Amino acid sequence: MNENPCTQLRHDFPIFEVSLDDQPLCYLDSAATTQKPHQVIQAVKEFYQSQNANVHRGLHTLSEQATIAYEAVRGKIAQFLNVQSREIVWTSGATASLNLIAYGLSERLNEGDVILLSPLEHHANIIPWQLAAQRTGARIELLPVDTQGILQLKQAKALIASLKPKVLSVCHASNALGNINDVAALIGSCKKLDTITVIDGAQSLLHLRPDLQQLDCDFYVFSAHKALGPTGLGGLYGRYELLNALPVYQSGGEMIDTVSFTGTTFRPAPEKFEPGTPNIAGVIGFGAALEYLMALEHDSLFQHEQALYRTLVEQLSDIDGIRIWGDTTHNVGTISFSYKKEHHYDLATLLNTHGIAVRSGHHCTQPLMAHLGIEGTIRVSLAFYNNHQDICRFIAALKDTISLLEE
Ligand SMILES: Cc1ncc(COP(=O)(O)O)c(C=O)c1O
Repeated sequence: MNENPCTQLRHDFPIFEVSLDDQPLCYLDSAATTQKPHQVIQAVKEFYQSQNANVHRGLHTLSEQATIAYEAVRGKIAQFLNVQSREIVWTSGATASLNLIAYGLSERLNEGDVILLSPLEHHANIIPWQLAAQRTGARIELLPVDTQGILQLKQAKALIASLKPKVLSVCHASNALGNINDVAALIGSCKKLDTITVIDGAQSLLHLRPDLQQLDCDFYVFSAHKALGPTGLGGLYGRYELLNALPVYQSGGEMIDTVSFTGTTFRPAPEKFEPGTPNIAGVIGFGAALEYLMALEHDSLFQHEQALYRTLVEQLSDIDGIRIWGDTTHNVGTISFSYKKEHHYDLATLLNTHGIAVRSGHHCTQPLMAHLGIEGTIRVSLAFYNNHQDICRFIAALKDTISLLEE
């Protein structure tokens, strides 16, 4: 089997040396969080060991060095996304980014305005908008998705034209099904209407490495931990004029120009959205993740993931009683399936006894599950560090699990 250079990259991830109950780990849950290469682990360790200081505060050498290193990573993610550094705000993750944007855009929403989402969204891209709608009297409408969970682009564009939404907020790729949405086409439709476009990139940053200038969205959110970086860190891109015009969301130290008891003035974006001591070690670790990714040929990583994904789809489709959900033709390498009427928890629990880590449940997409008429699925999600052996082990374990359940 042609394993390509990604086979070597697996050795960069120390977690794969771990055995669980004497079985090597078969990690198929990268949509939840990716594993970390030793470069990232080392960068975080080194920061705490020899560089630890607060940023933007001290005149002492260590603090200045920490500030330079921290701000350099803002530059790196900006370069990765092809935007300007001042358009990047650090947050604690995609969830925090979406909350910040939905809160900030509430100022622009009026009674009856439309916020357009899709049934594919993660709860993090639903609830902040529900709260914004409650605050403002705006209403949420949904893009059309078929019974398989696939966005219907033609009807979606027609709906955008007829509803003229104030905001469109959609995922670039579905976390539950892996479908890649044609967000460029949706953004194109919104441009004609001055609709503000927000792209939830939690599942696309690693797999699709988008060029945001080309995509031309107004906002894009991401989580570092889904792209080899540490947990508790994420960020957002905002087109500068729009970003800078958003109101302050949370307040405190470092984001101000002046404070007195008669009033406070704020710094411009991105600082005005970053109160308090940030996740400095997380940012440093994410910098190492970005360096690692930027040194690799993205196309070959993507092709490797796609080849594994196609094998997985073929082998799963050959098993009687398996129902695969979503679009398997445009997908970031995540497959969601059900087996007859068996409960997904039973399947996942039995798979776990084989050392297979998959996710089961509603994947924080309860409205999508309701739309599909199911409670949940088993989700297998790949990253470039997976290999054919992982797929073989998973399929063998699944067949074993099914025969146990059928006994
Ligand atoms: C599509 C999508 N959006 C938002 C989130 C929330 O990300 P976080 O939990 O890192 O804030 C996730 C996490 O699974 C996701 O997959």
